[in-house]
Amino acid sequence: MRTDVGLRIAEQRLVAVIRADDWQLAVSAADAVVEGGVRIIEVTCTVPQGDLAIAELRRRYSNGVLVGAGTVTTIDEVKRVADAGAEFLVSPGGTPPLLTALAESGLPFAAGALTPSEIMTANEHGADFVKLFPADVLGVTWLRALRGPFPRVAFIPTGGVSPATVGPWLDAGAVALGTGSGLVPAAALVARDFRTITKNATELVAARDA
Ligand code: 3PG
Repeated sequence: MRTDVGLRIAEQRLVAVIRADDWQLAVSAADAVVEGGVRIIEVTCTVPQGDLAIAELRRRYSNGVLVGAGTVTTIDEVKRVADAGAEFLVSPGGTPPLLTALAESGLPFAAGALTPSEIMTANEHGADFVKLFPADVLGVTWLRALRGPFPRVAFIPTGGVSPATVGPWLDAGAVALGTGSGLVPAAALVARDFRTITKNATELVAARDA
């Protein structure tokens, strides 16, 4: 891995994907996740003014918690979240211009890919990680098969990951896992039920450490 940030993602093995309808709620959800022991936070670009959430979380967590940006799908977003202080970037897929912009940001990044050709394109652009998305649709056998031709690719399966599937994904060779709606359910956000979010995070951490 080329950076400390990349190494910390590989060490921590869990990336919390935070989606919310407003940026303050995203910050509160991230706080609840951190309280439950998850140390890598990815604020998605679908959060309105998500750059404010990234900047605020960077202020709050100067040590031990990484704050990145996810669902980065345009070159403008790359610039905006990098300016806000994102420490890593995640895209759900990768067109060549977007992958070039991600690489030129100088930040470690995960490029979304599902097929061998997409993985090769991500590699050619210097992706630190491949976000295997949507992971639950194809399952752990997909990852096992991909690791044959791509033994050195750092895969981060994301999509439908739950405490029950953390072990199987890690056993199949995932470097880390991304998890969003199972960790921060929309209903918990509507109800401002941050305790449930913290409990979900605690369960994920326990599954990782099992
Ligand atoms: C993402 O953008 O990474 C996904 O929304 C996360 O998928 P999940 O919500 O199914 O965990």
